[in-house]
Amino acid sequence: MASTEHAVETQPGVLQELARRHLWMHFTRMSAYADHEIPIIVRGEGCYVYDEHGKRYLDGLSSLFCVNIGHGRADIVQAGADQAAELGFFTNWSYAHPRAIELAARIASLAPGDLNRVFFTSGGSEAVESALKLARQYFKVTGKPNKTKLIAREVAYHGTSLGALSATGITALREPFEPLVPGGCHVPNTNTYRLPTGVTEEWLAESIAEKIEFEGPDTVAAVILEPVQNAGGCFTPPEGYFQRVREICDQYDVLLISDEVICAWGRLGEWFGAQRYGYQPDIITTAKGLTSAYAPMGAMIASDRLAEPFLQGTNSFTHGFTFAGHPVCAAIALANLDAFEREGVIENVRSNEPVFREMLDSLRDLPIVGDVRGAGYFHAIELVKNQQTKESFSDEESETLLRGFLSGELYRRGLICRADDRGDPVIQLSPPLIAGPEQFEEIEQILRPILIEAGERMLVA
Ligand SMILES: Cc1ncc(COP(=O)(O)O)c(C=O)c1O
Repeated sequence: MASTEHAVETQPGVLQELARRHLWMHFTRMSAYADHEIPIIVRGEGCYVYDEHGKRYLDGLSSLFCVNIGHGRADIVQAGADQAAELGFFTNWSYAHPRAIELAARIASLAPGDLNRVFFTSGGSEAVESALKLARQYFKVTGKPNKTKLIAREVAYHGTSLGALSATGITALREPFEPLVPGGCHVPNTNTYRLPTGVTEEWLAESIAEKIEFEGPDTVAAVILEPVQNAGGCFTPPEGYFQRVREICDQYDVLLISDEVICAWGRLGEWFGAQRYGYQPDIITTAKGLTSAYAPMGAMIASDRLAEPFLQGTNSFTHGFTFAGHPVCAAIALANLDAFEREGVIENVRSNEPVFREMLDSLRDLPIVGDVRGAGYFHAIELVKNQQTKESFSDEESETLLRGFLSGELYRRGLICRADDRGDPVIQLSPPLIAGPEQFEEIEQILRPILIEAGERMLVA
């Protein structure tokens, strides 16, 4: 740490050069940094982070929906350090250790219904991968070996490992890696702002039943859905959607996986997104906010019913990852959850969600703002060419708007958020769960003039 600070202080530009030469950034067009600086974040505190020049930014995306408790929490780091001194690492392959046991029990106590069995992973893709493999093996051991297919939603993101990618419904991410794991099928998402003509909100859940019938109920293992779908811009479920999906899954003996890599740990004002919408999944996949990203950790939380066959005779879930359940990560997760409870972090989201929403809704007077949607501290603003007709931007215009202007300008003016066009162009905001009216006001003060300028540049009607 000291040597990094030294390099930054005494040799400005060194980190830039080293990053350009050696660091392979994820999902990043690295050529974009040929003629301007790579943003290098060196420090964080609360809702704010600081770059290598000491400039402050409001972290309006919780560092990719991760740092739910906020930055710079020495107490959470300390829990990891204490654990490392006591037992730096031991595996969950045939062994257990106290922190993994305590964390599994804690998660089970918070998770809805009979989701009592926790299989740790190192991140979200691994959690999704584990859920897909559990679904397949569960049906094999219970005498339905042909149930292997998976139904997910269009434009949804469920991770990048090949299994998880077969669930991801974003063509541009899938295409470079085809052929994917077979069996991934997709149905419409809950983009109610752009419902195709003739399609009702009620049909969105029915489309899952139709897909199961089309594929053959004996071949479908699971449906994977986020409580609020991130990619495309925070699509919330219509009233009754998940209740109907639950019925459909029961009818066809298909498992319901709630992918809560983002939506758990207070993001929607509850421990789990399924609790916000009142449904009971068979599996929850999660990561990110579990440790507030002070250490990498994910989990697949399965129901007693799914675990039961694996508790018999010679059966075992033949799957695992070396680092999963790492004691340092587990200790950090426990300290994170302690802080959540002690400091009323989830209550903060509940009481401030209306203020956050009101601020975002106040931007609707700008012609470029087509829709504002989301739940909890997880919202998106969809940008349009024409508010009345909902006309969207062409791919080329979207490129000019998002990458040519918004991303850079928001960052330049001190707001980190996401300008994204995996569906129609949106700006996503997902601040740390400790944020409140002061941060919302700051977001508005930065966002409003930028959206005005964006509208002028794009000749929005
Ligand atoms: C819903 C969802 N599932 C899975 C993943 C993959 O998680 P990870 O990047 O930790 O592998 C993500 C990541 O953002 C996600 O949002």
